[in-house]
Amino acid sequence: MARITLRQLLDHAAEYGYGVPAFNINNMEQGLAIMEAAAAVDAPVIIQASRGARSYAGDLMLAKMTDALEQMYPQIPLCMHQDHGNDEATCATAIKHGFTSVMMDGSLKVDAKTPADFAYNVDITRRVVDIAHWIGASVEGELGVLGSLEHGGGEQEDGHGVEGKVSEDQLLTDPDQAVAFVHATKVDALAIAMGTSHGAYKFTRKPDGSILAMHLVEEIHRRLPNTHLVMHGSSSVPQALQDTFNSFGGEMPQTWGVPVEEIVRGIKHGVRKVNIDTDCRLAMAAIFRKVATQNRSEFDPRKFLKPAMDAMRDLCRERFEQFGTAGHAVRIKVVPLSEMARRYRSGALDPGTATLATAAA
Ligand code: G3H
Ligand code: 13P
Ligand code: ZN
Repeated sequence: MARITLRQLLDHAAEYGYGVPAFNINNMEQGLAIMEAAAAVDAPVIIQASRGARSYAGDLMLAKMTDALEQMYPQIPLCMHQDHGNDEATCATAIKHGFTSVMMDGSLKVDAKTPADFAYNVDITRRVVDIAHWIGASVEGELGVLGSLEHGGGEQEDGHGVEGKVSEDQLLTDPDQAVAFVHATKVDALAIAMGTSHGAYKFTRKPDGSILAMHLVEEIHRRLPNTHLVMHGSSSVPQALQDTFNSFGGEMPQTWGVPVEEIVRGIKHGVRKVNIDTDCRLAMAAIFRKVATQNRSEFDPRKFLKPAMDAMRDLCRERFEQFGTAGHAVRIKVVPLSEMARRYRSGALDPGTATLATAAA
């Protein structure tokens, strides 16, 4: 059994200089696709579930599914993570259902639409850190609002995402505030805003530094060298997937995602967790369209889901290889939650105290 915390996994990733894709799941097929890919290349895994996923599949189903995936692939360290938690209850109930890590996204208020101020974000994130660290679970915080530098708005995913326009300074994490935030909250990982947004429609052209502020990642990493940085909205929306989707009756307007080479640049500068949902959805949906178009009499869901699962598996495998995650599963000896809790209580994992090597040991 290998249920790992985000903190231990990202400490390992930092020590060996790789990044870990965090793939969203809502159903069994997505879970199997990720684990098959991980097993094929010996990569540790972060599976994350949004609040939308929890209400779609149900907490019990997600919890049992994660148990099953863990049992089927005991050699693969598996971190189960709450994506975009909006309050203490969401995070606490996730931990109760076996999640070893939670994101407290205090960049937005509890309605997950309204930008929150710094003091609100620090308070709520600190409270979640208190709850989680007593148990040994990890916490990701977010500073800065995800959204487009091209049009100043966020992309709503199932009701999550900033509503209306926000100013450029809210869309770009302030490095000074990032230092203060990490020390005040003791988060294990920090999601930063630098022009990415959720969903397929991130950029209207191949992004350059004016709309994808990778220099900010470098600056924040320079100030917080021992803090694991997280990139949200990091699907690449590959042209080949757009083309397949559209060639079988889809009507997706031309769009650009985050180029893989920019993510790899981020990984060289402290990015350890890379959130990917849209690419997995698109890989599967393109196949649904293909099967429906090419075999119009087909009605067995497995004939749609199996090739869709294979397409998602191939995408996940590619990201494990591109981010340097491949080959590391075997090198990780999982530290139990109780031992992580003891390390938090001793102060050994506090920001500014922990060195990456001692934390990962
Ligand atoms: O947070 C963004 C993810 O893409 C999750 O999306 O809320 O529709 O499950 P969702
Ligand atoms: P994408 O929509 O780019 O896949 O981002 C997913 C994400 O950030 C989930 O938290
Ligand atoms: Zn996100």
